[in-house]
Amino acid sequence: ANPQDDTSERLHEVMGLAARFYREQLKPSRRAIDYLKRRGLSGEIAARFGLGYAPDEWQALQKIFPDYQAKTLADAGLVIDNDQGRRYDRFRDRIVFPIHDRRGRIIAFGGRILDKGEPKYLNSPETPLFEKGRELYGLYLAQKPIRDEGCAIVVEGYMDVVALAQFGISNAVATLGTATTPQHVHTLLRQTDRIVFCFDGDAAGRRAAWRALENALESLRDDATLAFLFLPAEHDPDSFVRAEGTEAFRKAAGNAKPLARFLIEELRGHHDMDAAEGRAAFVHEAAPLVTRIAAPLLRLQVIKSVAEESGLTQAEVEHAFGIIA
Ligand code: GTP
Ligand code: MN
Ligand code: MN
Ligand code: MN
Ligand code: MN
Repeated sequence: ANPQDDTSERLHEVMGLAARFYREQLKPSRRAIDYLKRRGLSGEIAARFGLGYAPDEWQALQKIFPDYQAKTLADAGLVIDNDQGRRYDRFRDRIVFPIHDRRGRIIAFGGRILDKGEPKYLNSPETPLFEKGRELYGLYLAQKPIRDEGCAIVVEGYMDVVALAQFGISNAVATLGTATTPQHVHTLLRQTDRIVFCFDGDAAGRRAAWRALENALESLRDDATLAFLFLPAEHDPDSFVRAEGTEAFRKAAGNAKPLARFLIEELRGHHDMDAAEGRAAFVHEAAPLVTRIAAPLLRLQVIKSVAEESGLTQAEVEHAFGIIA
């Protein structure tokens, strides 16, 4: 075995041990249990996702790792070494969400504060096991439902994934506090031909949707559909499914706005389409986006839409894109 495999092996081992420790700390903590109950989560769902609790102590992990100074704990991102050479646990007094790789091995944790405070979420740093832009929270549990349903739902938060599962919607995954990457899209399109992005209804969620569109363009296929579900401004998937129920969420996901329509409507909204200047700027803004669409037939459809919206012929749009793209 090469040395790298040995290192990964040891890291996987300590992550597994830490996850078990955090799980075991959940039941004895009245506060942690109350918190999960307040969020409407059942014990069954907490167990399915392996949720745990990191105690309110500086060195709780010393109980399971007698060699608390070992380099592996730092490499795994479980502890922090301060300037004075003192080591302490990264996750303290937080609900802990284990993040699995696709084979079910734990590669990182997300930790949510129980009350108000900053930061609300604390994640593992990037480690040899954990590269943020590649991983999707919940994918290990969701991969079979995604294939069975023929659809993957992408949300922003841990709680969104867990809450949707509580309501019987098990095909959701979350990006980990990063934008949706081409990697994410590529990974999901290997499992299904439909992705519905459902970010928070606030301004940040709308920006995240646009970023997801931009990052998906080069991964698009003519036999797949990407669509966007825009929630009311006050909601995220968690609060929406609680307020409106499973069927309402499913219906909304089924009616999500296809990527090409989102693209055209958004760009149109940026410009005064009644003015020649606005129509020119619309075509100018569309060029670098449309030319990145990897699916040739969808690209052709969008070029036709740009032509219709701008009052040009398809040939004129293609000519313009060739010059300015
Ligand atoms: P709840 O308040 O528990 O419902 O969480 P939420 O998922 O609705 O939170 P929010 O919409 O604010 O954030 C979405 C996701 O962004 C979270 O699940 C985290 O992954 C990430 N995130 C949010 N706040 C922080 C933060 O303070 N630090 C970091 N690193 N990530 C965060
Ligand atoms: Mn948000
Ligand atoms: Mn949210
Ligand atoms: Mn939320
Ligand atoms: Mn513009």
